[in-house]
Amino acid sequence: FERPRALSGIQPTAGSFHLGNYLGAIRQYVALQESHDAFYMVVDLHAITVPQDPAELRANTRLAAAQLLAAGLDPERCTLFIQSHVPEHAQLGWVMNCITGFGEASRMTQFKDKSAKQGADRATVGLFTYPILQVADILLYQADAVPVGEDQRQHIELTRDLAERFNGRYGPTFTVPAPHIVREVAKIYDLQDPTAKMSKSAASPKGLVNLLDDPKVSAKKFRSAVTDTDTVIRYDEKDKPGVSNLLTIHSALTGTGIPELERQYEGKGYGALKTDLADIFVEWVTPFHERTREYLGDPETLDSVLAKGAEKARAVAAETLAAAYDRMGL
Ligand code: ADP
Ligand code: NA
Repeated sequence: FERPRALSGIQPTAGSFHLGNYLGAIRQYVALQESHDAFYMVVDLHAITVPQDPAELRANTRLAAAQLLAAGLDPERCTLFIQSHVPEHAQLGWVMNCITGFGEASRMTQFKDKSAKQGADRATVGLFTYPILQVADILLYQADAVPVGEDQRQHIELTRDLAERFNGRYGPTFTVPAPHIVREVAKIYDLQDPTAKMSKSAASPKGLVNLLDDPKVSAKKFRSAVTDTDTVIRYDEKDKPGVSNLLTIHSALTGTGIPELERQYEGKGYGALKTDLADIFVEWVTPFHERTREYLGDPETLDSVLAKGAEKARAVAAETLAAAYDRMGL
């Protein structure tokens, strides 16, 4: 019995992952390592599609890996590596560029969104073609499942199209993957503006819970979360987005179902929910800090985990690339 293969990448974000990254993505990575032969990478090649300071990029890439390990990725049960350590990504990326239509690439809506933010003239060609590099990322591992958010669905469609195109032209080479859109995945909202997704580019840092911030600061953010003028603790995304967001986070961190939480908080005020959640978060995040610090304080162990991960990833990636090159006449 071979477990299905899963592949996912996460950007090396500046400083710290936030609670949305953890509950919306990283927690699913941890769960999938049990059911899948899972490959996870910190995608530094994607990070350079926008300008990066070299020393900061290197530090953030290591910090991202340390946080993934601290959050529960186990190098014995999954393959964790840094994208640029496996040169086959760039190599297959070029091959995929050469079978993608310019018009087809132009229809990727993420580029339109991302380049609009920077001013279209300043956006790089790398940013334009990053979905094609993502195609190579996935196909190199013959992944069956790609755990992604709804916003990445179009890129999985591109992956399927290019895999089928290559297989049709040159003979069966790539597994055609399916998106693994996790239905019950928590979407976490800003604590100050609960109609906006929690994001590192938040308007106000007061609504953003960074995992590596001082836990006291985060606890205060939970205690001063924006709710509404009502008093009843009930899940209602439309009329009570703030309370619903707090219930989502509570449920995700404790494993208690939302209906059960509604019963527990019957007759209690918002203050009780916020204070409890502050305590629950601190209790969860304290060992996370300790583990992150341990990995950062022991660079040899972290390097060795990442070197072993890259070696395991390369064994798979090199075989796929060799087959693709061979079929194309390279
Ligand atoms: P940001 O939105 O802060 O820029 P990224 O785009 O780097 O974060 O997201 C990294 C991962 O975390 C993605 O899988 C994304 O879907 C997930 N994610 C980011 N923000 C949230 C959120 N508020 N709720 C749930 N998942 C999120
Ligand atoms: Na995002």
